[in-house]
Amino acid sequence: MKVSGRSKAGKFTFECRTGERILYAGLRMGLALPYECATGTCGTCKARVREPATIKDLWPEAPGNSYLQRERGEFLMCQAHAIADCEIAVPAKMNSMPEDYIPLVSTQGTIVNSRLLTHDVMAFDIELADPIDFDAGQFVVLQVPDVEGGRAYSMVNYERATRRLEFIVKKKPDGRFSEWLFSSKADGTVAELCGPLGRAIFQPEEAKNLLCIAGGSGIAGMMSILSRGCQEDYFKDHGGTLFFGVRTLNDAFFLDELADFVSAFPDKLQVTIALSDEEVASIETPHNGSLNFATGFVHIVAAERMNRHYDDVVAYVAGPPPMVDGAIRTLILDARLPADLIRYDKFS
Ligand SMILES: Cc1cc2nc3c(=O)[nH]c(=O)nc-3n(C[C@H](O)[C@H](O)[C@H](O)COP(=O)(O)OP(=O)(O)OC[C@H]3O[C@@H](n4cnc5c(N)ncnc54)[C@H](O)[C@@H]3O)c2cc1C
Ligand code: FES
Repeated sequence: MKVSGRSKAGKFTFECRTGERILYAGLRMGLALPYECATGTCGTCKARVREPATIKDLWPEAPGNSYLQRERGEFLMCQAHAIADCEIAVPAKMNSMPEDYIPLVSTQGTIVNSRLLTHDVMAFDIELADPIDFDAGQFVVLQVPDVEGGRAYSMVNYERATRRLEFIVKKKPDGRFSEWLFSSKADGTVAELCGPLGRAIFQPEEAKNLLCIAGGSGIAGMMSILSRGCQEDYFKDHGGTLFFGVRTLNDAFFLDELADFVSAFPDKLQVTIALSDEEVASIETPHNGSLNFATGFVHIVAAERMNRHYDDVVAYVAGPPPMVDGAIRTLILDARLPADLIRYDKFS
């Protein structure tokens, strides 16, 4: 099916395969269509279709639909197939794709090595038939046969041309994918994958100091960013400061891996674990000397510890939406960072 579109940047056309979401088809063709979650919640990918009968809405109950004016033909590109040639208009600004953009692919992989990291965080790997590239900080949309709809998960590892992707999932009460992962034997399941997606990526050529603020499973993409930084000796010349928020020490994970990163670049890397529901003074903390611990919400701890020293910084934020909003507010008001130096993923 042919999708003909227009935006303030001009006209475009692309082919949409049968069963392919319009957003993914446009991104596959290298168009900088607007999106954030790619899974129906944020409303960023809204567009207007001239003839509603030319598209199929895959998830009429999607939370992102609340941002739409349906009577004007508005729809979510991440939740729609083209069922005939169609004409769309994209109201949001479309910047051009960077030259080194990694094209989106749809592929399959097998879930292996699922393992508990804490009482409510599970890690697993996906083995891919064909290698793929991604940038540190990106995510894929996964779909498994037993759960309706796709879910976005950020890669934890960083490797080019890799056949293995690592993920972590925090259990959400009554969440269908996370309950499935925790209750079933997920290993051996073949998952459909679409990616890489996401613009909160580490760009070493920017040569800036990294400030990472993660809440809970938001640490996933930060691990990928720190892995790449360490692999490429980025922290020989640039600073890296990570704040990782969890409720209590029992909810923390990846502490050994974080301590290893710090040990490799002790002068340049700093990691602080922020415990929102536990007094640090009342517990014995591990990796003293490599990791710092503080009590409080992660964005508040970050603001206190940074103490208005945000020299030449690019910031990455990921985790639950209220935490991400709080961190962004801090970065705008306290650090006075411009929007293009604040990159975030809301795990909505
Ligand atoms: C960019 C991004 C990266 C993320 N990375 C991580 C990560 O690394 N680790 C992590 O734990 N979480 C991550 N999340 C959150 C994750 O995608 C899930 O929302 C979360 O795991 C809860 O999923 P669930 O199925 O358990 O809950 P549910 O409440 O069952 O589903 C939550 C989400 O699934 C999608 N969905 C639900 N039903 C349908 C349907 N019928 N059709 C289509 N879509 C549907 C929607 O996006 C919905 O918000 C990320 C989210 C985003 C946006
Ligand atoms: S990108 Fe489509 S609703 Fe978020």
